Amino acid sequence: MSTVDSELRIGMVGYAFMGAAHSQAWRTVNRVYDLPVRARMARICGRDAGKVAEAADRLGWDSYTTDWRELVNADDIDVVDICTPGDSHAEIAIAALAAGKHVLCEKPLANNVGEAREMVAAAARAQATGVRSMCGFNYRRVPAVTMMRDLVAAGRLGVIRHVRAVYLQDWIVDPQFPLVWRLQKDRAGSGALGDIGAHIIDLTQFVSGQRITGVSAVTETFVKERPLPADSAGLAATVDGTADGPHATGQVTVDDAAVFVARLDGGALATYEASRFATGRKNALRVEINGSLGSLVFDLERLNELEFYDATRPGPEQGFSRILVTEGDHPYMSAWWPPGHIIGYEHSFTHEMRDFLTAVATGADPTPSFADALQVQLVLDAVERSAEHSSSWTGVEPALAPVAA
Ligand SMILES: NC(=O)c1ccc[n+]([C@@H]2O[C@H](COP(=O)([O-])OP(=O)(O)OC[C@H]3O[C@@H](n4cnc5c(N)ncnc54)[C@H](O)[C@@H]3O)[C@@H](O)[C@H]2O)c1
Repeated sequence: MSTVDSELRIGMVGYAFMGAAHSQAWRTVNRVYDLPVRARMARICGRDAGKVAEAADRLGWDSYTTDWRELVNADDIDVVDICTPGDSHAEIAIAALAAGKHVLCEKPLANNVGEAREMVAAAARAQATGVRSMCGFNYRRVPAVTMMRDLVAAGRLGVIRHVRAVYLQDWIVDPQFPLVWRLQKDRAGSGALGDIGAHIIDLTQFVSGQRITGVSAVTETFVKERPLPADSAGLAATVDGTADGPHATGQVTVDDAAVFVARLDGGALATYEASRFATGRKNALRVEINGSLGSLVFDLERLNELEFYDATRPGPEQGFSRILVTEGDHPYMSAWWPPGHIIGYEHSFTHEMRDFLTAVATGADPTPSFADALQVQLVLDAVERSAEHSSSWTGVEPALAPVAA
């Protein structure tokens, strides 16, 4: 039975991929977890009245609007959830925070460091009046990833020597795949780097407890020109053309792949690879950490599992063991199913909403904060600058450098 006696009225901007994932999580979170506050799916926002009305009905929202400014200033909205491309994150988040709304913003926080700094400053001003903000790096909330972090924090790996991370996709291998917003720098900020590289940067820093201090990088745009899309759809977009071919083409202005080495502030060496050209790899995120006392491996395609090599065990018993992270005393799992009854991708968002709602209701600051997400943005920026300068070693500016008030 729930002990809920108050509610937070959610207003969400964007209703496509992440809009659907977040809607599922908002719908589910109070039905699974016993929380001090209930999320009410009050209003959804999109620019096309017909499409957003249909989305409101399909995804379970009470009402809809076509103007995000109306949403962020509405008296009957407490939380603004931003699920739009990166070019609108800063404007919407800053306006929402100024209007006293708690903000959950999808990753990467912004399209560049300048915007991210402005968002951090806005979050700091709002925080002084009890308004909370968080960036949606959902993979932190996969139970096996949280458990990986807990084992590292408990010292079970000893001194961390290596961090090895890849995030691989293949949805633009076809040169005829259209020039969607994710392939345009002014809309997306960067390509594979900011879209999927940002996830492994956040995840590895979260798990290792160490921050990236410098990088040497290469990036590449393998297909430099693509047909224009017929519609604004995301990963399922179609080409604007006829059977004879596309009507027009445009320049790809982001990276297709980014590969870099890094140093972490605890002394570890790290390698990162983010690509949309890894043929056959659909959404392959894998992280391995090697320490003086053991190793841990997480693979998103087997997200209920964690591989653990414990070098403190007697020699003949040593070897990688597979932990099925579905027990009631594993992170987030107590509210789900009996042991062994596995969970999936969408649960990471339910966990994200659980943590966000709990923090807001209890007057705590949720994580990752906008400042944490700025640090990721600074790494993205350092990677781009290194790649532009023949892979030269490029330091990552500390995130807590003074920001404009
Ligand atoms: N956490 C994750 O695993 C994950 C996965 C995918 C995308 N993302 C992030 O989520 C964000 C959205 O990505 P997506 O895949 O959902 O994109 P998408 O193209 O599927 O959806 C974008 C939505 O934003 C709407 N939109 C765009 N500009 C708008 C505006 N000015 N006002 C109102 N609505 C507007 C579009 O109509 C659409 O509904 C991005 O920041 C992306 O990096 C995160």
